[in-house]
Amino acid sequence: MTAPLWLPAPDSAQVAHTLVEAFTQRFGVPPSGVWAAPGRVNLIGEHTDYNQGLCLPMALPHRTYAAVRPRTDRLVRVASLQQEDAWAGTLDEVGPGRPDGWAAYVVGVLWALHGQGIDLPGVDVVVDGHVPLGSGLSSSAALECSVAVALADLVPAVAALEVTDLAAACVTAENVVAGASTGGLDQTAALRAREGHAMLLDCRDFTVEHVPWSVGADGWTVLVVDTRAPHALVDGQYAARRRSCEEAAVRLGVPSLRDVAVPDLSSALEHLAPDDVLVRRTRHVVTEIERVREAAVALRSADVTALGSLMTASHVSLRDDYEVSCAELDVVVDTALGCGAAGARMTGGGFGGSAIALVRHDEGARVADAVAGAFEARGWRPPQVLEAVPSGPAGRAQPRS
Ligand code: GLA
Repeated sequence: MTAPLWLPAPDSAQVAHTLVEAFTQRFGVPPSGVWAAPGRVNLIGEHTDYNQGLCLPMALPHRTYAAVRPRTDRLVRVASLQQEDAWAGTLDEVGPGRPDGWAAYVVGVLWALHGQGIDLPGVDVVVDGHVPLGSGLSSSAALECSVAVALADLVPAVAALEVTDLAAACVTAENVVAGASTGGLDQTAALRAREGHAMLLDCRDFTVEHVPWSVGADGWTVLVVDTRAPHALVDGQYAARRRSCEEAAVRLGVPSLRDVAVPDLSSALEHLAPDDVLVRRTRHVVTEIERVREAAVALRSADVTALGSLMTASHVSLRDDYEVSCAELDVVVDTALGCGAAGARMTGGGFGGSAIALVRHDEGARVADAVAGAFEARGWRPPQVLEAVPSGPAGRAQPRS
């Protein structure tokens, strides 16, 4: 049988060392330092962020690294160890949809900060991504945030920003320059997660509460299975979901679906009928926000059974009401549950990407093998698997050289 591909987090010092060498070779001088930002898994609270709702993410040990050096002119030069196309230009050349491709996530952050009136120097940047691309684990936010924290260390006017403003600049980069209408969960997780904790995030005012990953002490872990099925947030599906939510809120006369309380849900759904799509989208969002509240309670009391059931209920809602799952994600969830996982669900935007399973630490390999077997039986390529050890936020990975 084909084994799953395990993806351990690389050694941070080793990655930083290689990146300093690559930067120096490319630009002829060493970088001022190396910074890194994590990918994330969202335990629960999916498609709630752009509805001013709640989410419960945690940061991964898998990070995107950026070696950065300010320049005395206004030139911005960016390169990647993974991508062949480098980009060079000034911020005057950046705007909605420009540049396209991966560089948008880097120069978009500079452009957004510049748009806040911050006078930025030029910069040289080389990035090295260790968050798998297209996996639903927020490689794009990790890229944005690795650059944002570098600028916060190098530019006093950026250092003076609140972390919420820094996150907002990263969101602007993604929404405006890269053209993906995402909601803020990923960037907040990358910038503000805490090691050993999940982060209860309220997207109404972007306040966070760090909730200890209590079930880890009882031997439970989160297995992440990247289906490697194609997934792209820039396509129309994500934006269509967001538009439906906005339309439902307008029809209900509320600022956002966050404002629909659970006891009022049935009357809200009656009001939206017979538009079945709006009914189902609204039902997902309102019940999902409630599930996040309950999951935070379960996590605080280390109630793995309750946490797992909420995760599985979230998947069912995303699959049937929100319609953002796919065959590969459903197979991961069903297989993991069949192997005794306490709960399982797709994570991130959906339409491909990753699913997570709450499993006993010593059962992770067996569950991963079972999923790989189920994939092989369907003629799909083997999934990629990693363990979500709750990790720390973006920051400097290597001191000034
Ligand atoms: C993507 C987006 C986030 C969020 C999730 C769904 O990851 O980037 O803003 O909307 O999908 O919860």
